[in-house]
Amino acid sequence: MIPTYPLEGRRVLITGATSGLGRQLARWAVAGRSHVIIAGRSPERLELTRQELDRDFPHSPTETLLLDLASFENVRGAVSEAHDRWASLDVLVNNAGVMAIDPGLGPDGHDLTMTVNHLSPTLFSVGLLDLLERGRSPRVTFTSSVMHWLSRSRPGLLGEPPSPPRRWVAYARSKEANLTTSLELSRRARDSHSPVAFLCAHPGVASTHLGQEGHGVSNWFMRAMAPRLLPSVEQGCRSLADAAFTDEYPAGSYVGPRAVLVGPSHLARPSSLARDPRHARETLDRTLALVGTQLVFGSTT
Ligand SMILES: NC(=O)c1ccc[n+]([C@@H]2O[C@H](COP(=O)([O-])OP(=O)(O)OC[C@H]3O[C@@H](n4cnc5c(N)ncnc54)[C@H](OP(=O)(O)O)[C@@H]3O)[C@@H](O)[C@H]2O)c1
Repeated sequence: MIPTYPLEGRRVLITGATSGLGRQLARWAVAGRSHVIIAGRSPERLELTRQELDRDFPHSPTETLLLDLASFENVRGAVSEAHDRWASLDVLVNNAGVMAIDPGLGPDGHDLTMTVNHLSPTLFSVGLLDLLERGRSPRVTFTSSVMHWLSRSRPGLLGEPPSPPRRWVAYARSKEANLTTSLELSRRARDSHSPVAFLCAHPGVASTHLGQEGHGVSNWFMRAMAPRLLPSVEQGCRSLADAAFTDEYPAGSYVGPRAVLVGPSHLARPSSLARDPRHARETLDRTLALVGTQLVFGSTT
């Protein structure tokens, strides 16, 4: 059964909506009668997903936005296109991500996992801030993971790949950066009297394509075992949807399944590193410097 979310008439942008949790979130958002924009890196997968959504939910046509988070130039292009096409945005779900991919640098010279999972989503969100500030009860949700607890990273190392290169460490760091940044953005939005609520959520675990891309033993294991061992995508989406699509959780919340990896949503506990305000300030400042942008609230007033 499709849960009902009160989204009628709202404009909802979901990244990574061509697969897994993002695709399911898009289904729930369209079912809630919102105007959904699905963002993804592959024009073919975007078109297939759009056709599937329009076939299953003909009352509310879905729009697409090409967005490759591996490249800052591409992200800036998507931000510019969004400004050409829409006057406001109500909900942004930063869901797209990669896990345990082969170690390497992205085209901007930073660790590729950190680029796709954290640097680019932050650049995207900051770029869309004026559209969000014109939205109705605007909400921005980032997607973290219980793996964020394993991060011991320092803000100064944010763009650097782990040394020695380790795919799971890179993932843990990027997910900690997601959570830390959402908490800091929330504090700065509050201090600036911005209407935008920043939150973070994690899905526990769910059977998706995550972790299957790559040449490591763990990628092979994920391809072979994830569909058999992990809970359903619907189960994983609940915390993300409750955080993004309702006002049940206030700005600055971190939402996750009650039984850590599964169950109905509740307030989850961030690691002590993510809760450290100084670490958070430095993480966001370093992120903004690496992606070459500034955080400006209230530019529309
Ligand atoms: N599944 C879990 O157990 C779990 C647990 C904790 C956290 N999470 C988080 O949940 C989020 C969604 O993951 P998922 O499990 O749904 O995985 P998934 O099935 O692999 O979906 C990931 C999505 O991200 C997109 N993506 C990957 N690289 C991209 C890029 N460079 N630019 C734009 N989009 C890109 C993918 O696009 P393509 O279709 O083109 O590949 C896909 O739509 C991730 O942030 C992940 O860290 C998942």
